[in-house]
Amino acid sequence: MNDMKDIQWFPGHMAKTGRMIAKSLPLVDAAAELLDARLPLSSRNPELGRLTGKKPRLVILNKADMADPNVTQQWIRYFQKQGLAVMTADSKSGKGVKQFAPALRSLLHEQLAKLEAKGMKGRPIRVMILGIPNVGKSSLINRLAGGKRAKAEDRAGVTRTQQWIKTADGVELLDTPGVLWPKLDDQEVAVRLAMTGAVRDDILDKEALAARLLTMLHKQYPQTLSERYKIAPETEAEGFEYLEMTAKNRGMLLPGGVPNTERAAIMLLDEFRAAKLGRISLERPE
Ligand code: G4P
Repeated sequence: MNDMKDIQWFPGHMAKTGRMIAKSLPLVDAAAELLDARLPLSSRNPELGRLTGKKPRLVILNKADMADPNVTQQWIRYFQKQGLAVMTADSKSGKGVKQFAPALRSLLHEQLAKLEAKGMKGRPIRVMILGIPNVGKSSLINRLAGGKRAKAEDRAGVTRTQQWIKTADGVELLDTPGVLWPKLDDQEVAVRLAMTGAVRDDILDKEALAARLLTMLHKQYPQTLSERYKIAPETEAEGFEYLEMTAKNRGMLLPGGVPNTERAAIMLLDEFRAAKLGRISLERPE
């Protein structure tokens, strides 16, 4: 697992990644921007538009298996309205991944028609995968490559010669994905990423994080909360009180009957990250 906790995003590092992307872009026909379907905006890099310039872009809502399918549909429309090509994928199981080549062909149909007119039919389409750590870049590359290769190198600014990974349907991938940085200076973004485990959760107090998650679940997924933690949908409480209820209802008590909110928080975050609460989206379009 490539954890953001191992990566210090300081300006020099960002500039290096930016240079690596700038160097690789002229070699590719399109950029594939990998986002987490549960939080597409928070898992998006603010500089990506600037970094990729006019290069055609395909948005891939990955981990779609963990996201609320209704909300994912709304996100698809949201990105389409911005004029972007978009697809969903579950790179862990491989579901949806075979849409990749057709989606690229459709995105690049004009360029491909021009090539064909010049007699260059059958030239491979070359693509670079970009995304923040943990969004699933290596998983997707391995799925597209059909398990023929090891985990992709994930270091920013790698200088060795670029290699191409052949996939089905005449698409080739740059073997080094562009590792982008998230907007961690935005507290809301940091909180959502921490909920999914994409960033270390000690940037925030685990109990505070769990209380925020419970508040969101109560508002958006009351049924889930009631089924799993016996918190009735009509309950009116505040974040930390939900955590106390969860601890009590799960029998997590300290001597004297005090709810063990720390244990409850760890359990809740683990269960959420393991998708035991079902398919949940943390962000929806406005
Ligand atoms: P990265 O290269 O962008 O850093 O991400 P990577 O592929 O390493 O994926 C990070 C984690 O997310 C991995 O889990 C991976 O299995 C999981 N993952 C990637 N894509 C999907 C997806 O579409 N759906 C689901 N459910 N999970 C996905 P891990 O905990 O590091 O390892 P493991 O659980 O696979 O052992």
